[in-house]
Amino acid sequence: MNPTTAHAALNLTRRLRRLRRSATLRAMVRETRLSPDIFVLPLFICEGEGVRREIGSMPGVFNLSVDEAVKEVEAAKADGIKSVLLFGLPQYKDAVGSAAYDSDAPVQAAVRAIKRATPDVVVMTDVCLCEYTDHGHCGIIVGDEIVNDATVDQLVRAAVSHATAGADVVAPSDMMDGRVGAIRHALDERGFENTVIMSYAAKYCSAFYGPFREAADSAPKFGDRRSHQMDPGNVAEALREVELDIEEGADIVMVKPALPYLDVIARVKDRFGYPTAAYHVSGEYSMLKAAARNGWIDEPRATLECLTAIRRAGADIIITYCARDAARLLG
Ligand code: PBG
Repeated sequence: MNPTTAHAALNLTRRLRRLRRSATLRAMVRETRLSPDIFVLPLFICEGEGVRREIGSMPGVFNLSVDEAVKEVEAAKADGIKSVLLFGLPQYKDAVGSAAYDSDAPVQAAVRAIKRATPDVVVMTDVCLCEYTDHGHCGIIVGDEIVNDATVDQLVRAAVSHATAGADVVAPSDMMDGRVGAIRHALDERGFENTVIMSYAAKYCSAFYGPFREAADSAPKFGDRRSHQMDPGNVAEALREVELDIEEGADIVMVKPALPYLDVIARVKDRFGYPTAAYHVSGEYSMLKAAARNGWIDEPRATLECLTAIRRAGADIIITYCARDAARLLG
């Protein structure tokens, strides 16, 4: 067959490739853009001074003492990062996680130091007990159960203590029922009506938290988190979780992890139109780094592609260990 004749027979009026012909045209019609404004960098705060200890399964992520955390925030700010999320690694752990509301514990000290050094950086704190209990569970244990209501009392104490230290945002990550309402009420009662609550609303029971548990030394010593974190197969339930947290006073709702749950992010954003965060978790980060180190993927491209996908799905805010890398790539 004569190829010219075959081509003519196409007689195309619509050619979508026209707008892909140059970088300028592609940029002009790009639907999803990333900006460091929406990135939140998680930091792991430990005791001591001058400590900067790399986490084996998370290259480029460190356990930082308060003084080092301040330096990290200043460096991140220079890259364009405007918000951090703090996790604590206390030396003292007990059955009820009382270090979670110790005003001298690493997170509280770091909040004060970071707000002093860089007041315009938004400081968020993770509110959970798993880093503070000697058994590694997110709550108080009676028999073989993680009891809800007594745990909520402890979470309220932690959230109030973070707000007192000067946290701009408290982020309950425990998945107990009713904790958002209880935290909102307790904050308001103490004059912290402007402290934002970002709830880990739809947090799945995920294998992708593995590296984090090494970083935060928070793996449960027995059992698992299936009695409070969500079953990966569920999405209608995620919408119920989000709805309840909004009713209870959450300002921002989060879906976690991010890439394996893009459909959940999209449906949460669609249904509620609320400020929606997605947590690109430790395992997602470690997979990228591991593949890149083996030369199996192009790290910068893969990083921006992952974050773009999370944004495209509907996330307004992305919590990611890649925040600094991505901000530099975008800059
Ligand atoms: C609980 C908490 C976890 C993460 C954030 N907050 C761990 C868990 O639920 O076991 C995971 C974050 C990550 O994997 O990057 N305090």
